[in-house]
Amino acid sequence: MTEPRVRPATPADHERLRELTFESKFHWGYDRELVRSWAATLDFAREIWVAELGGEIVAWAALRPPDDGVCELDDLWVEPAAIRTGIGTALFRHAADRARAAGAHALRWEAEPNAVGFYERMGAETVGTATSEWGRTLPVMQVEL
Ligand SMILES: CC(C)(COP(=O)(O)OP(=O)(O)OC[C@H]1O[C@@H](n2cnc3c(N)ncnc32)[C@H](O)[C@@H]1OP(=O)(O)O)[C@@H](O)C(=O)NCCC(=O)NCCS
Repeated sequence: MTEPRVRPATPADHERLRELTFESKFHWGYDRELVRSWAATLDFAREIWVAELGGEIVAWAALRPPDDGVCELDDLWVEPAAIRTGIGTALFRHAADRARAAGAHALRWEAEPNAVGFYERMGAETVGTATSEWGRTLPVMQVEL
């Protein structure tokens, strides 16, 4: 695959990221209006990285600073047309590198159930559960860095 260009997000990217996130989550078949209203509440005041192909943003990820040696991967979204092309892997590895550079020994997140196989492929394991904004029980996954 062509390696994406990964760069920090700027405020000018935020509306594109909101739309991409809607499309990415809706891709799993959830209710359109539920996903739309959830995407409207996204907050981008975090460390955010975007992946570009040909100058177009095709994915993004957000990282929280380490807390007790663990960084949280807060979001990871690939636009539907770019799913299964290796973009998620590239961005996940970038986030892991950033977390390691920040001094974390592990990266952790609440996983979308449809994405668990991807994260297992990234070397992660399920370490617990959490209740999501939608009241679902989600696996908490973690990878050692
Ligand atoms: C989950 C997601 C981030 C993965 O990124 P991606 O770019 O599609 O994944 P990659 O192409 O890097 O996949 C690498 C490998 O992981 C595995 N994999 C990828 N997605 C998978 C899935 N949904 N289920 C099981 N295994 C998966 C495959 O082995 C894949 O290799 P292959 O395509 O050669 O078989 C992306 O599909 C996505 O954004 N999905 C919709 C939104 C979402 O669920 N985000 C996660 C929120 S926690």
